[in-house]
Amino acid sequence: MATSVDPTTSEAPAWWRQAAVYQIYPRSFADANGDGLGDIPGILSRVDYLADLGIDAVWLSPFYPSALADGGYDVADYRDVDPRLGTLADFDTMVEDLHARGIKVVVDIVPNHTSDLHAWFQEALAAGRGSAARERYIFREGTGENGELPPTDWVSMFGGSAWERVEDGQWYLHSFAIEQPDLNWDHPEVRADFVKTLRFWSDRGVDGFRIDVAHMLTKDLTEPLPSRDELALIPIDGNHPLLDRDDVHEIYAEWREVFDSYDPPRTAVAEAWVASDRVPKYAAPESLGQSFNFDLLMAHFDARQFRDVVAHNLALAAESGSSSTWVLSNHDVFRHPTRYGLSLPVPEGEVPGRHGGGWLEAGADPSALDRDGGLRRAHAATLFMLGLPGSAYLYQGEELGLHEVAEIAPEQRQDPTFFRTNQEQYGRDGCRVPLPWSADGPSLGFGAAAPHLPQPEWFAASAVEVEAADEASTLSLYRAALRLRRELQGPEGLEWIETGRDDVLRFARPNGWQVVTNFGAEPFDLGADAADVVLGSVVDGAVPAESTVWIAPASLV
Ligand code: GLC
Repeated sequence: MATSVDPTTSEAPAWWRQAAVYQIYPRSFADANGDGLGDIPGILSRVDYLADLGIDAVWLSPFYPSALADGGYDVADYRDVDPRLGTLADFDTMVEDLHARGIKVVVDIVPNHTSDLHAWFQEALAAGRGSAARERYIFREGTGENGELPPTDWVSMFGGSAWERVEDGQWYLHSFAIEQPDLNWDHPEVRADFVKTLRFWSDRGVDGFRIDVAHMLTKDLTEPLPSRDELALIPIDGNHPLLDRDDVHEIYAEWREVFDSYDPPRTAVAEAWVASDRVPKYAAPESLGQSFNFDLLMAHFDARQFRDVVAHNLALAAESGSSSTWVLSNHDVFRHPTRYGLSLPVPEGEVPGRHGGGWLEAGADPSALDRDGGLRRAHAATLFMLGLPGSAYLYQGEELGLHEVAEIAPEQRQDPTFFRTNQEQYGRDGCRVPLPWSADGPSLGFGAAAPHLPQPEWFAASAVEVEAADEASTLSLYRAALRLRRELQGPEGLEWIETGRDDVLRFARPNGWQVVTNFGAEPFDLGADAADVVLGSVVDGAVPAESTVWIAPASLV
């Protein structure tokens, strides 16, 4: 485990504070039963791979029964495994095998909405307007002469109206896809059921939880409801009707009691897309304990932006007492080599590729992508991130240096964003294409059948088997970096070292481990320190353009 004893206390820091967590998108990881969808036995068959990679934990995106209207984030039953992905017994074996290799398991909890196939929603549809069953969701009468218009003009995160009409004429709120009705978190049964779910997985040995859209659960839907334009003018300061409300932390305080009733306490990390100064509320020990910060993911490959993001987030972590989290890629955004290889301008603050917008609009010319440059910058950014204090979240396939897949025909696309924006935005399918494990075979070793999303030809060159045999590959770099990170990891903390250049960042950890990233085009001379470089290449005593090196005194390695 990536821990070492903090000299200021006698206790070893909690495992999650500086963990390297690898995100598995189960349906696209490995397919053991040959149906084109990845599954839990597939993960089981790759436990050696995960252990060799040198990660501390895996986080599994949803594997629950689902009609896959939103890649599994439409959950039909929170306490079971999708039969296409395996059984609860398979899940238990997977946890056991991962634990045996020292890898913790984090699962995804999706509390803002259920699937429309969830028993509760089916019951609500059947029970009709005014019924107790409808109270668990957010049903309203429509507007217009006969209620034929939605209650408001709100737009869902995937485009189109946020309301859908049911047969008897009422409308329900769905912040995401039509198939994802929002739950009513004022309802005690909703609260009680999620506690039951947290206990269910904790009892099965799960070590922690990733909380999906943690900032959206509670809502103030007092009539009259504001219009979309009015909503946009309301500050998001804890009292906004829909987003990042302070009262959401009452839910997490109750969950905290559940987490702390286990030994060791279960952990949680919030997926909260909130202004960074609001992050400490989610990361506080009495709330979820840790929160993603997506600032690095939103930054350009730029020294000033990276430095600001790090300084700001370390200050926020100090405020909450949590450790910071760092993310460059996940299942919702364009892969970072692609982001860094496109020269499209991204407006400040916009999330690149978040639900499809931004960097690779449908119809964009993929030849505009500088593949090698993007990958070079991605390596530099990854090594920078892995040197930071706090935990690092990696997304499956980034260790292979995969680019976003643009070549997916409209009829093969799955992401609701693509369809609800009139095919104007690609959506997130391009980062969810099944992994290439070998250079040939019907799905490049993913499974025995054609994969659920098509793999492009260029995936073969990035297959695990190919990269494992190549010392200069991205996979070899990740393995070396993660192994060394464990060795070098010491107390949290970071001190900037002036470099005399605006485009070169250098920082030192308290134990002497240093990271130097050259964001610019000119080499950066290291002088005598070149002799202590333990990772990354040095050419003529200098850090080449767009690359990172790690420096460590001999006593650490
Ligand atoms: C989160 C998930 C995303 C999903 C959405 C709705 O943002 O990461 O994949 O579509 O929530 O559940």
